[in-house]
Amino acid sequence: MKVPRFPDGFVWGVSTSAFQIEGATSADGRGPSIWDVFSADRAEACDHYHRRSEDVRLMRELGMAAYRFSVSWPRVFPDGSGKPNPAGLDFYERLVDELLAAGIAPYATLYHWDLPQALEERGGWPSRDTARRFADYAAAVHDRLGDRVGTWFTVNEPWVAAFLGYGSGVHAPGRKSAAEAFRSAHHMLLAHGLATQALRAAGAAKVGAVLNLSPVMTPAQVGDFGRELSEEDAEAVGRIDALANRQFLEPMLRGAYPAELLPVIERHGGLGHVRDGDLDTIAQPLDLLGVNYYTPLVVQAQPSEAADPAFPGSDGVLFCTIPTAVTAMGWPIVPGGLTLVLRRLSEEYPDLDLMVTENGADFVDVVTGDGIHDVERISFIEDHLRALLSAVREGARVRGYLVWTLLDNLEWSDGYQRKFGLVHVDFATQRRRPKDSALWYRDVIRRNGLTETPPRRPTLETVAARAGVSRATVSRVVNGEASVSADVRTSVLRAVKELGYVPNAAARSLVTRRTDTIALVLSVPRQGDALTAAVVQYVTSMLEGAGKQITLMLADTAESHRRIVQHAEARLADGVVLLPPDRADTLAERLSRTGVPLVLLGKPAVASMVPYVDVDNAGGAAAATEHLLARGRRRIGMICGPMDLVAVQDRLAGHRAALHRAGLRPLLALADVTRASGAAAARQLLADDPSLDAVFAAGDQLAIGALHALREAGRRVPEDVAVAGFDDIDAASATTPGLTTVRVPVADQALALARLLLSRLEGRHTTSVVLPTRLVVRDSTSASRP
Ligand code: FCB
Repeated sequence: MKVPRFPDGFVWGVSTSAFQIEGATSADGRGPSIWDVFSADRAEACDHYHRRSEDVRLMRELGMAAYRFSVSWPRVFPDGSGKPNPAGLDFYERLVDELLAAGIAPYATLYHWDLPQALEERGGWPSRDTARRFADYAAAVHDRLGDRVGTWFTVNEPWVAAFLGYGSGVHAPGRKSAAEAFRSAHHMLLAHGLATQALRAAGAAKVGAVLNLSPVMTPAQVGDFGRELSEEDAEAVGRIDALANRQFLEPMLRGAYPAELLPVIERHGGLGHVRDGDLDTIAQPLDLLGVNYYTPLVVQAQPSEAADPAFPGSDGVLFCTIPTAVTAMGWPIVPGGLTLVLRRLSEEYPDLDLMVTENGADFVDVVTGDGIHDVERISFIEDHLRALLSAVREGARVRGYLVWTLLDNLEWSDGYQRKFGLVHVDFATQRRRPKDSALWYRDVIRRNGLTETPPRRPTLETVAARAGVSRATVSRVVNGEASVSADVRTSVLRAVKELGYVPNAAARSLVTRRTDTIALVLSVPRQGDALTAAVVQYVTSMLEGAGKQITLMLADTAESHRRIVQHAEARLADGVVLLPPDRADTLAERLSRTGVPLVLLGKPAVASMVPYVDVDNAGGAAAATEHLLARGRRRIGMICGPMDLVAVQDRLAGHRAALHRAGLRPLLALADVTRASGAAAARQLLADDPSLDAVFAAGDQLAIGALHALREAGRRVPEDVAVAGFDDIDAASATTPGLTTVRVPVADQALALARLLLSRLEGRHTTSVVLPTRLVVRDSTSASRP
């Protein structure tokens, strides 16, 4: 069998960035960065600062040849300028030494978005001085590491840093000005040029930059890139390509901005910041261009469309959603886009060496007792490696491939909910566990190639897809039923043989009774429970997408419980999803005794073996409470929802624990789930303690009720009393002032539930999943107390 192989000397590795993994944000004199100020998430990340050696060992075991990390600017220059902080540099020196001892080539990125806050306060990237400071910083880092680091990258994805940081404000520092975004982009380019000069002057071996590059196409071109475009669509595609890609490529590699971009920049604040000689400085010869590729940009002309703030000048262009598979991030999976990017670069810049410096995917991982079987991530990487190989075969000079990323980490504004790692991180314990994708990647590295047949464990679905029949048909053939035609039987058996499918005992006993129907059992949704409604909607569409029919059943009376249990006993459903089983009833237990695979949304009141999907309620409540404490609030009342709900019990426990750590005692008021009861509880808290200065509510509807009641009582929010809620992100975004709340990942819960159930149907061992929550800080808590 011919194995697709990569060129000799092809470099395999992973990329990370300082802010996303290091933690230890005030250790050894590090100053704050713009992300420390902007981020709503706790900053420990993966605590890599203290676990560096373990992480290097992990990479060595996985066979990495290169590791691209970023240096944290505020560790080296805590105040942005002055003398470098030796302790900050020590950390990277030790890291580099350990990498070299492990046989891993260190690739250092100098700017991966963590600008020292001190420089932001002096103007940030819209100020030209920041570019000069960057060159000094580059020289200081080289001074310490230059004898050991051979490959340097100046800036990472300046488009993101400039246009999300200063344009749309979705990233730090959160400014929203098109003019500042263009100025920032120019100054990042200038910073790249000045730093490249400084590094070269100091004798750096290889210097490059890293750009996020996406092919731009219309929806119709996604499946057929060669397709002709109308004049309007061609113009839209060209304009977005200039903004996203050529704005950076052409100054760096040709010494000029794309001609059609100049009037756009001119219209947004002018061109005064582009000085004579800048473009010559920017266009330093490059040894290597790093390409980060995740997904294409899909657009079409649409005259009525207003500009997207991340793409100032994009008026009349619609950013389209396309009906392709997506990652959990919602990014369309289009491996062919990588071939397009690499092909184009090698056509336009034939002498330039390229490296894929980031590529990878966020999927919801299900942690089971026997590992993390992240087959989607394996397929994603494998498909992109095949796409890379096609470009190499056409002559593209691609020198290596670095997966984004080694560890699950702090994904910028999205917090900890995103899972891009080859290695799973349990953020409560910092335990690292390689996922299947890590072990698979290790084998790819060893072979310097892929295998002909994807190594995925074939499932009933794969067999069905290969044979072009339904799962039920495959079951019937596998179980020797006579009702299948000879032709179909032959093709199913061929697929079984080709794929090496082995039906396991559990699946086998199940498949004989397949109905391809799943019962979705709903405990009575409480009023205002938007969350459950959303989860139901997502779970339904995911299971339907997997070919299941859904029977919705309401568990509202003793009689209905009996009917539901009978339904399961009679095997009228292959599996049951019960949501939410918070109340201390026996339905979950009775269903689990029927032997029908069962999964729960939310941790059950009574501990059992039934796997569930939950969110970290205690952690979320603790984060909200700690946030209030950090704002100087000391008399914090909590409004609890119904105490028979496990989620409420956990939120209370998290709140108590945080208060306890601060040496404070809880002040509680009970409510149900409605706004009116939240208002009543807030009035009670005020009566109990007139100097109340903050309220944490176990639900956002309760918090909204409290907002109203506090205002009626003449209290200002947040000046007098700060308010934080939990879990209804939509409702919380609509209040005045905006409500600080704990966001729970709705789609991820649904996806995890659906996957948990599907794994159980395959007879695989499964364990419960607890997803992280995220504090979203808004104005209702923003003022601090002295
Ligand atoms: C890239 C960033 C990296 C990470 C991935 C998902 O844009 O460089 O830090 O956020 O996306």
